[in-house]
Amino acid sequence: MCGIVAYVGPKDAAPILLEGLQRLEYRGYDSAGLAVVNRGLKVRKVKGRVADLAAAVPARFKGGLGIGHTRWATHGAPSDVNAHPHLDGAERIAVVHNGILENADEIRAKLVADGVDFVSETDTEVLAHLIARAVKETGTLADAVRTALKAVVGTYGIAVVDAERPGEVVVARNGSPIVIGIGEKEMFAASDVAALVRYTRQVVHLEDGELAVLKADGFHTFTMDARETAKVPLTVDWDAGHYDTGGYEHYLLKEINEQPETVARTLRGRIDDRFHIAHLGGLNLTPHETRAFRRVKIIGCGSAYYSGQIGAQLIEELARIPADAEPASEFRYRNPVVEHDTLYVAISQSGETYDTLAAVQELKRKGGRVLGIVNTVGSAIARECDGGIYLHAGPEVSVASTKAFTSTAVAFALLALHFGRVHDLSPADGRRICEGLRRLPEQIREILGREEEIAALARKYADRPSMMFVGRVRGYPVAREGAQKLKEVSYVHAEAYPASELKHGPLALIGPDMPTVAVVPDDELLDKNLTTLGEIRARGGQVLMVGHRMAEAKLADDCIVVPKNEVELDPILLTIPLQLFAYHAAVALGRDVDKPRNLAKSVTVE
Ligand code: AGP
Repeated sequence: MCGIVAYVGPKDAAPILLEGLQRLEYRGYDSAGLAVVNRGLKVRKVKGRVADLAAAVPARFKGGLGIGHTRWATHGAPSDVNAHPHLDGAERIAVVHNGILENADEIRAKLVADGVDFVSETDTEVLAHLIARAVKETGTLADAVRTALKAVVGTYGIAVVDAERPGEVVVARNGSPIVIGIGEKEMFAASDVAALVRYTRQVVHLEDGELAVLKADGFHTFTMDARETAKVPLTVDWDAGHYDTGGYEHYLLKEINEQPETVARTLRGRIDDRFHIAHLGGLNLTPHETRAFRRVKIIGCGSAYYSGQIGAQLIEELARIPADAEPASEFRYRNPVVEHDTLYVAISQSGETYDTLAAVQELKRKGGRVLGIVNTVGSAIARECDGGIYLHAGPEVSVASTKAFTSTAVAFALLALHFGRVHDLSPADGRRICEGLRRLPEQIREILGREEEIAALARKYADRPSMMFVGRVRGYPVAREGAQKLKEVSYVHAEAYPASELKHGPLALIGPDMPTVAVVPDDELLDKNLTTLGEIRARGGQVLMVGHRMAEAKLADDCIVVPKNEVELDPILLTIPLQLFAYHAAVALGRDVDKPRNLAKSVTVE
């Protein structure tokens, strides 16, 4: 999705903006641009990569105030003209914008009728014209931005500069993140802390409906009604090193390999061996309140939703509370019945996914109690929730989620243990789960040690047009996530089904061209899964089994054996080989592994 960077201070803005934009590349974009204020506006915009923009920015682009943008096309095709910043006719105001303005066409028609010339097809350009008109009357850029924003409907994170005010940048947020970075006699703003951590770790997140004026020596924030707001800076614990590939060929491979560490971080300080319970200080729930919930409803999008399915299974098994997961993108639109005795759990790596945020806001409006399982500290979803669990997995840069997925499943195991021990999970079972959790990092390391074996299998299957993924109960979300990883990074068509559903329809697809990845844990459903393998092979389908028992391997064409943990925790380990499988299939097919086509890291628009 689009990215914003802004700078005001004593240094030249252009190199800082370009550096920041590079840090935001992982979010996905199709064009980039920047504007610097120095006796007028100096602007460069290109369709293509940030490197192309850097090449197009001349050395004479001096000046200590500027804004930059990476664009993901929504209104109008990717092109130099549609790239941001957008300017008014007099080239006084420059605006960069993330989000979508729903009434842009209407405003554009009125402005055109008034004689305004538009040069781009974007919704953003209306803002530049509106602000330029308003600034002549209001006198201050901040008031002009407020006035213009009152006229638009939709979502935005914006940064605005005025060629006649070379010392300030105005930013505003409504549904699309803006973070202010506080430096030494310099100020930054961005849509993502990734763009700021090289310069400062002191940040302030804007809330929806808030604006800020940034000057080199400080900032102030206020509402759309011009009421000042008080903000407490937060220290980000991610540094620039987290955003390097660390010697790996791709971020995806780096992040897959980080999982022994990231899982250990999610667990750190949260297991109490005296009582075999989990310490989750951020839940903000008393044991009494915890017992009062009769149901758990989990929401998230994409892989976050699949990790929620693992979570629902864990909660039902360990706490015996009915739990289910639903895509947040669907939940928000179906006027959900919100019950006072249901606990809602929202999952998001980025903490900014618009569908999930909107679902949380809908829940809050209806009085629902919402916990967040979130990776990004201080993000919009984290702030909106009543409490929750931070993953501490570090920034996830590759578009395909891996370490956040496993850390979310681990966070759910802790939550289920906590609920279980408040309900009827015995101390002996509590201890079993605690010990299982502690074994995870080492077992993940063991699986990662088999990368070459898994890579060879990925190369063997990568040229198939389509693959089926199946699993039963605990294995089903693993199969779904395996199919999701394969399709998003390798573009190989993949379907996931509960193994039990195969004979109710999709078995018709099985044949020599459609191999099946079967998730076969050593649990009470093993025999049923083995029957499914027989059914597939009887129809000429090849089977790649991912499971535990060597003896069963002969029932499959290929097999990846993973170490065994407790049955409830096995899904976490079974996920890892499927991540490596997808990664190596993508590499074999020459895909853009970290930035798959058409996808963005965080989907901050509807
Ligand atoms: C995962 O590989 C995907 N790229 C995607 O499904 C992602 O999990 C989803 O968009 C939710 O993102 P979030 O966790 O940041 O909310």
